[in-house]
Amino acid sequence: MRYSHYFLVLFVVLPSILVATELVPMPLKVIYDDAKAQLGKKLFADPILSKNKKISCLSCHDLSSNGADTVAYSIGIHGRKARFNTPTIYNATYNFRQFWDGRSRNLKEQALDPIENPNEMGNSIKQVLLDLKANAEYVKRFKHLYDEGISKDSLSDALSEFGKALTTPNSDFDYYLQGDKSAISTQAIEGYRLFQERGCISCHNGINIGGNLYNKFGIYEESQSKELGRYEITQKVEDKFVFKVPSLRNVSLTAPYMHDGSVTSLEDAVNMMSKYQLGRPMKDEELHAIVAFLQTLVGERPSIVKDMNASH
Ligand code: HEC
Ligand code: HEC
Repeated sequence: MRYSHYFLVLFVVLPSILVATELVPMPLKVIYDDAKAQLGKKLFADPILSKNKKISCLSCHDLSSNGADTVAYSIGIHGRKARFNTPTIYNATYNFRQFWDGRSRNLKEQALDPIENPNEMGNSIKQVLLDLKANAEYVKRFKHLYDEGISKDSLSDALSEFGKALTTPNSDFDYYLQGDKSAISTQAIEGYRLFQERGCISCHNGINIGGNLYNKFGIYEESQSKELGRYEITQKVEDKFVFKVPSLRNVSLTAPYMHDGSVTSLEDAVNMMSKYQLGRPMKDEELHAIVAFLQTLVGERPSIVKDMNASH
C-alpha cells in the first residue's frame, strides 16, 4: 500500500464509516413473503399464544397507532408488568439487534421470547404448538406454507415475516431527504442541523435513526436506572447501563420514553439526552427546533395493518 493510500484510509474512509454525518431515507420496499406475513398477522392478533388466552402481541404493540403502548410498562398476563418500556415494532426489522439489551439477533429469534416471558404471555412453546395443532384453520394454513406444518420454526418464521412488513416509509423527513426542501418547516430544518452539529447523529443514525449500535446511557451524568442493560448479558463492567440506541422513527408517537418509560414528553427526552449524553444543556429554541425535526419522522403505516385494532 502506498503512503497516499494509508492517508486515504486513515483520514477519509475510516472517519466516514465511524462518524455518520447525514441520515438516509427509508427504503420504500421491504422484502418479505406475503402469504407467510398474512399468517403471521393472524397469529400476532390472536390471544391463543398466551397461557390464559387473553393476551396477544397486539395487546402491547398497538398497530393502529404507534406499534407500541402508551404506558411506561405494558400489562401482560395476570396483570403483571413488563420489565421494560415497550418499543414500537414498526421498523424493528431495520434494527441490528432486538430488545433494549440486544439479546435477540433478529425478528425470528425475537418472536418466541414474549410467548414464554412470564410477565408477557406466560406460556410455553410446547403448549402453544399443541393449541395451534388443535385448531383446524391453523393446521391447514401452516401446512399450505411450510412442509413441516406447525412447528417452533414455522411459528417464529410466520411472526417474523409479518414483522418485516411493518415499515413506515414516506415521512415528511424522507421527502425532504429525497429533495423536496419544502416538505418540512424551516424550524425542523434547523433542528436537523442541530441534530448533526451537536452529535445526536453519532448515536442515532442509519435507516432507523438509531437501532444500529449500543451505547451507554449516562455518559456525562450517572444513570439513575436500576436496569444494567447489556451488562446482564455480557457481565462486562464496561457494559453497565449500555442499551441499544433506540430508533427515532415515529418517536413523537411513542411516549413515554427510555427503557423504563420514565420520561413522558419528547421535550424532556431531548433535554435529558443533551445533558446526559452530550454534556451540554440546550437553549429553549434549540430544543424546540430538534423536537420539530423529530416530529417530521412519522411515516406511513403499511396497508397490511389497516384492519387491525388493539384488543385492549
Ligand atoms: C405484555 C406486553 C407485550 C406483549 C404481549 C408482546 N410484547 Fe413485544 N415487547 C414488549 C416489551 C416490554 C418489549 C421490550 C422488551 C425488552 O427489551 O427486553 C418488547 C419488544 C419487542 C420487539 C423488539 C423491538 C425492538 O426494537 O427491540 C419486537 C419485535 C416485539 N416485541 C414483537 C412482539 C411479538 C411478535 C409479540 C407476540 C408474539 C410481542 N411482541 C408480544 C411488550 C410486549
Ligand atoms: C452517546 C450516544 C447518544 C447520543 C449522543 C444521543 N443519544 Fe439519544 N439515546 C441514546 C440511548 C442509549 C438511548 C436510550 C436510553 C435509555 O433508554 O435509557 C437514547 C434515547 C433517546 C430518546 C428516547 C427514545 C425512546 O424511544 O425512548 C430520544 C428522543 C433521543 N435519544 C434523542 C436524542 C437527541 C435529540 C440527541 C441529541 C441532542 C441524542 N438523543 C443524543 C444514545 C444517545
